Amino acid sequence: SSLSSSRLTIAIQKSGRLSRESIDLLKACGFKFSLHESRLLAHSTSHPVDLLRVRDDDIPGLVMDGVVDLGLVGENVLEEARLERLATDFPAVFTKLRNLDFGQCRLSIAVPKEASYDTLQSLEGKRIATTYPHLLQRYLKNAGVKNVSTAMLTGSVEVAPRAGLADAICDLVSTGATLEANGLVEKDVIFRSQAQLIQRPGELSSEKQALLDQLLPRLDGVQLARE
Ligand code: PRP
Ligand code: ZN
Ligand code: MG
Repeated sequence: SSLSSSRLTIAIQKSGRLSRESIDLLKACGFKFSLHESRLLAHSTSHPVDLLRVRDDDIPGLVMDGVVDLGLVGENVLEEARLERLATDFPAVFTKLRNLDFGQCRLSIAVPKEASYDTLQSLEGKRIATTYPHLLQRYLKNAGVKNVSTAMLTGSVEVAPRAGLADAICDLVSTGATLEANGLVEKDVIFRSQAQLIQRPGELSSEKQALLDQLLPRLDGVQLARE
C-alpha cells in the first residue's frame, strides 16, 4: 500500500495522547477504516481517504511541506514546529480549519519543590530542559527574562533536574501526575493547547475539496452533539 494522489490523506498521531480520539472523531464523521496496528497507512473502506499514522512531531512538517492534505495535531507541537521552520527558512504555511475539542493540555515551567522561585526572573542564568525550546524562548523573551539556556530533550524531560541536566523543566502538563511523581511544582503556564485540524497550503483537487466539504459539516455536527 502506498500514498495515492487521488485520495485525501490525513496524518494522525500513531500512538499517544491524541491517537484514540483522532480516529474516533473521523469514525464519528462517517469514515470507516480498518486499522492494522503496525501499518503506517490505513485506507478508508468507505471513502477515498487514507490515514497516515506517524509521530505527532512529524505532522506539522508533513502538512506544511504538502506531503499530506490534512493533519490532526496538538497546537503545542504545531506552534513549536512553525517557529522552528521559520528560524530555519523552511515553508511554515498551513490553514487552520478547526479547533478540535480534545487533547487539552498546557505547557508549563516547573521546578523542583525544594528550589527557591519567586518570579520568572528567578530563572535568569538557569538551564531549562524542554522539548519546546522555541515556545519557551519566545515566552522568556517577551517576559524580558534573559540568559536562560535550554537542554533539548525529546522525552523523559521530568527527570532532567534530578539527573543534574537542568535546573527546571518546561513540559506538557495535563493531570499533573508526572510533575507530582517527580517532585516538581508547576510555576508558569506558557502555552495552552488543544488538538487542531489543519490543511496544507495550495489548492486541493476538486474531488478532495468535495470530500473536505463533506467532512467539515459532519465534524461540526459531531462536536456540537458532544457539548
Ligand atoms: C506528556 C508530558 C508528561 C505527561 C504529563 O507526555 O511529557 O510526561 O504528558 O501528563 P500528566 O500531567 O497527565 O502526568 P506525553 O504523554 O505527551 O508523552 P511523551 O512525553 O512521550 O511525548
Ligand atoms: Zn495500500
Ligand atoms: Mg509527546
